[in-house]
Amino acid sequence: MEKKELMYEGKAKKVYATEDPAYCVVSYKDDATEFNGEKKGTIVGKGVVNNRMSNFMFKLLEENGVPTDFVEELNDRETVLKKVEIVPLEVIVRNKAAGSFSKRFGVPEGTQFKAPTLEYCLKDDALGDPMINDSQIIAIGAATKEELDTIAAYTMKINAVMVDFFKQCNVDLIDFKIEFGRLPDGTVILADEISPDTCRFWDVNTQEKLDKDRFRRDMGGVEEAYAEMMKRVGLDK
Ligand code: TMP
Repeated sequence: MEKKELMYEGKAKKVYATEDPAYCVVSYKDDATEFNGEKKGTIVGKGVVNNRMSNFMFKLLEENGVPTDFVEELNDRETVLKKVEIVPLEVIVRNKAAGSFSKRFGVPEGTQFKAPTLEYCLKDDALGDPMINDSQIIAIGAATKEELDTIAAYTMKINAVMVDFFKQCNVDLIDFKIEFGRLPDGTVILADEISPDTCRFWDVNTQEKLDKDRFRRDMGGVEEAYAEMMKRVGLDK
């Protein structure tokens, strides 16, 4: 499938139309932004890492019964996807406290939770992606009750598969953000990406950060961390 005109350019990706309206092509960039675009930079090679790692994870999740928008990897940076209407929610799962959870609730980073947490943010740049609960989501029609039940069930399955997989890579999956989309017939499937931009990965033994927090917190070694994650997952060949 060939890419045609540019349909959308986001912070980290471009999306192109194809000759078939049911499909699009995503192209991952090296541009990095954070804090709603306030912090900007480049992470050399990030687009390749995110494209390849995300495709790898989506294939693994499909094998485990989670439907996704993945169709075919075209090259290192570009992938054919099923076209979906994005459900305007950031779905966040946490296994250990970190980031905004630690700030909001005063729980030290690295604290192991008794059970994973599930939280939602409304995707709205102008509002700064505010946190939103189930009843509020249903009230404003961001998703129906049925869609939210499906999203929650898939999300907990995705967490279980990912925790297990990354443990084998000697990586602690601290937390992550995912998004879902609707196919034209209304079916809800996993969309967007799963990558070091959207997950917190810590080395199991040293608790060293191997994700975008190195960029967010100006820690240095950002490219090296992304490359290390490719190695851990077995995608460096
Ligand atoms: P947080 O601690 O900043 O709320 O982030 C939780 C997880 O979600 C972390 O792995 C980073 C990811 N995330 C995104 O991918 N995009 C976002 O816009 C936000 C807020 C978080």
